Amino acid sequence: MTEQSPALDNLLTENRTFPPSEVFAAGANADAGWYSRAEADRDAFWGEQARRLSWETDFSRVVDWSGAPFAKWFVGGKLNVAYNCVDRHVEAGHGDQVAIHWVGEPGDTRDITYGQLKDEVCRAANALVSLGVGSGDRVAIQLPMIPEAIVAMLACARIGALHSVVFGGFSPAALRSRVDDAQARVVITSDGQFRRGKAAPMKANVDEALAGAESVRTVVVVRRTGDEVPMDPARDVWWHELVEGQPVQHTPEAFDAEHPLFILYTSGTTGKPKGILHTSGGYLTQVAYTHHVVFDHKPGQDVYWCTADIGWVTGHSYIVYGPLANRATQVVYEGTPNTPHEGRHWEIIQNYKVSIYYTAPTLIRTFMKWGEQIPAGYDLSSLRVLGSVGEPINPEAWMWYREHIGAGKTPIVDTWWQTETGAIMISPLPGVTATKPGSAQKPLPGISAKVVDDTGTEVGPGGGGYLVLDKPWPAMLRGIWGDEQRYRETYWSRFAEQGYYFAGDGAKYDADGDIWLLGRVDDVMNVSGHRISTTEVESALVSHPTVAEAAVVGATDPTTGQGIVAFVILRGNAAETGEQAVQELRNHVAKEIGPIAKPRQIMIVPELPKTRSGKIMRRLLRDVAENRQIGDVTTLADSAVMDLISQGLKTGK
Ligand code: WT7
Repeated sequence: MTEQSPALDNLLTENRTFPPSEVFAAGANADAGWYSRAEADRDAFWGEQARRLSWETDFSRVVDWSGAPFAKWFVGGKLNVAYNCVDRHVEAGHGDQVAIHWVGEPGDTRDITYGQLKDEVCRAANALVSLGVGSGDRVAIQLPMIPEAIVAMLACARIGALHSVVFGGFSPAALRSRVDDAQARVVITSDGQFRRGKAAPMKANVDEALAGAESVRTVVVVRRTGDEVPMDPARDVWWHELVEGQPVQHTPEAFDAEHPLFILYTSGTTGKPKGILHTSGGYLTQVAYTHHVVFDHKPGQDVYWCTADIGWVTGHSYIVYGPLANRATQVVYEGTPNTPHEGRHWEIIQNYKVSIYYTAPTLIRTFMKWGEQIPAGYDLSSLRVLGSVGEPINPEAWMWYREHIGAGKTPIVDTWWQTETGAIMISPLPGVTATKPGSAQKPLPGISAKVVDDTGTEVGPGGGGYLVLDKPWPAMLRGIWGDEQRYRETYWSRFAEQGYYFAGDGAKYDADGDIWLLGRVDDVMNVSGHRISTTEVESALVSHPTVAEAAVVGATDPTTGQGIVAFVILRGNAAETGEQAVQELRNHVAKEIGPIAKPRQIMIVPELPKTRSGKIMRRLLRDVAENRQIGDVTTLADSAVMDLISQGLKTGK
């Protein structure tokens, strides 16, 4: 186990519980019997959940784990994912139901019904086909939170092409490495995006990224900001010109349950992001099931809002696929939470009568900072379920969320999962679970997870260790794009003997056997719910000509969970000193990876603490970054190094 931060230690003394109200329990989508039913016959349970979907050809077997760690779910089944998310709702007579209440940052809005969404997805699918995109091809998407992003994803799914969505905040270099890795044939982007009240360029980013990118034939550009952008007539085409003239008829083809659906890149412990691969039938089954039970979603009644960006897995699973498969009416908001004012989210909840709200702890802590008087100015009485995702939620933030957003009564679901798991794995069930502030509590019915020690043995009540998933699950990743070896090594080698999936998170059981997540145990940081690897930031730093060596740690941060703190040794001949060098390096990292990876703090140091085998002792650097007494230095190759670092920092050299 790695050391825990003091903030996380507080988690473990938390002992309040909040049982569900009788009224909520009586109307809840799930009940306690689901756990025992799933336990008694896991395959039958998942077979039943798969019936939420429309299958063109029925599956003959629920799961085939004989090729572990490569699973096959719903063997022999065929379906079309986009048909399941759109067409079937229209066919069932819900064409006039609003699918998306879209709210643009500048205040423009669009309501899109399932009928309209179907037409748009069909047009876009025809458009992609006209560009020569077919089943199995890769399409990269870098778009702001506009309806076209969802339409583009569903259009890919409809024709069996894989989308690879790249977060809008990623740099040209980051986009390029993803485009190259997946050999994307088409890139879909926009002229620009609205961020904090201003139009920022996007196409320019893409142009820079794609210079000389050989796989890319076409760049499709959505008009959003209206800003002038250069168009390359040999490569670029406007979305509206391409899509608007297309027929609204498109016959969805049924694909195998294991047909790839998308690739989504996430940071690992090395510098190179991993292309996490997800497939169709199992993924859609689990996102639909979890969206139904974890949020207690009632189609036609609830108004659901997940505040994530589609560039992350939360947006894929809980804006696009889960909610749409379940015929949700949802809010999609383009912008930042304090534009034009700090009550923007509450105003949207009031206006659209949002009943289910799903957000991240970092944002909840930001709302706390802005003050409870802000939400108090709005009518939030429509809310009936609140969700949290992305990092451990501290009890203070949980209680604030419950009191000031949930009127002291709304159930909170703290949902643990990962890009790799595809869907929620550990979470309370509203109306079923007595919730505890700060705990994700229990694996969902059908899911199995354990906390184990170093040897893979399950720890007892009160014990801590590593979180593992000991049984395959429908939405599990099917590999890392183009790198089978890395897939086996990263997730399946740590507990190979037991055949457990290693999640990379530390966890603990409380006396009731409920699970408390304690953060990453590897070199992955969690900054505002975004996963960033220390190595990735280190490589960005050392790519700067003035840097000789760099070490990066995630330090506890009251708002963002962790903040990136870098220790840098400058080259002997570096001209810049102090502040100047620090500014330059922070900008350099933003340029290499994206603004989300900009270090909070960079300390210029003369040496780095290393073991005799040359491994950087990040534990000691974390002590410095978190202003703690420096821990045990006996395994350092040179025990004077920490003194040197501390002294240098005090004198500012
Ligand atoms: C990592 C996965 C899941 C979508 C967003 C992040 C951390 C996520 C929780 C939670 C404690 C959490 C874990 C996990 N994490 N949710 N409810 N409690 N930790 O997806 O970028 O793949 O990151 O986020 O450390 O491993 P991701």
